[in-house]
Amino acid sequence: MPTHEIGLQVENLCVSYQGVPAVRGVDLEVKAGEAIGLIGPNGAGKSSTLLGIMGATARTGTVRINGIDVAGLPPEKVVRQGVALVPEGRHIFSELSVLNNLKLGLVGRREKTGIPEAFAEVFTLFPILEEFQGRKAGLLSGGQQQQLAIARSLMANPDIILLDEPSLGLSPTAVDTVFEALDVVRKAGKAVLIVEQRAEFTIAFSDKTFVLHDGLITLTLGPSDANNVDVLTEAYFG
Ligand SMILES: Nc1ncnc2c1ncn2[C@@H]1O[C@H](COP(=O)(O)OP(=O)(O)O)[C@@H](O)[C@H]1O
Ligand SMILES: [Mg+2]
Repeated sequence: MPTHEIGLQVENLCVSYQGVPAVRGVDLEVKAGEAIGLIGPNGAGKSSTLLGIMGATARTGTVRINGIDVAGLPPEKVVRQGVALVPEGRHIFSELSVLNNLKLGLVGRREKTGIPEAFAEVFTLFPILEEFQGRKAGLLSGGQQQQLAIARSLMANPDIILLDEPSLGLSPTAVDTVFEALDVVRKAGKAVLIVEQRAEFTIAFSDKTFVLHDGLITLTLGPSDANNVDVLTEAYFG
């Protein structure tokens, strides 16, 4: 029976490149109001999992966005079902202003109403973006650019947000700012899937964290595992 719950369901997701498997049957679910972590060493298949969900790479398995199977849909149509990817490296347009970068996020928006409110919401979440809205995005710091990338994804008003290593290259303060914002986003009822290499941080933050190894989920952790060295060692080297 199809479910019409808000959120993301992934079953037996497989991604290969030229016949070499990178994701080998991943199952996961992210519900509205939840943040789920996906951690694992470099090359484990974290980014490929996100690309597979978005339809941005060839894949098999089932991906349901708000209960709708998006198998075979190209990324631009997957986006229209209510999911947004904040890619690794942020991919902001450095020559464009902060404001114009945010406007680009409107492309994936399903409803055409509520746009002034969407700007107001992201400016409340990230006040620095309001202050620097006329600046070229390339002049922002790394942390500010990450805030911009997240804000841009929110302009589409997605139900589900996927983030690929949002803390990469950021200062500890900038990481805190980003994760405080993600907490607000989660509490606002969105489904949040965070790919990270920072294990402890992600485990502590997320409602549940999956450990990916060589394309397979090998372990599921809860917030109380964040300081358990044995568990962390097992997660990375087990
Ligand atoms: N475009 C690609 N072409 C060929 N192999 C790739 C490509 N992207 C990733 N891979 C391979 O797939 C595996 C998983 O990569 P990736 O999903 O980027 O892992 P992670 O994000 O966990 O570091 C790695 O072995 C990587 O070399
Ligand atoms: Mg990656």
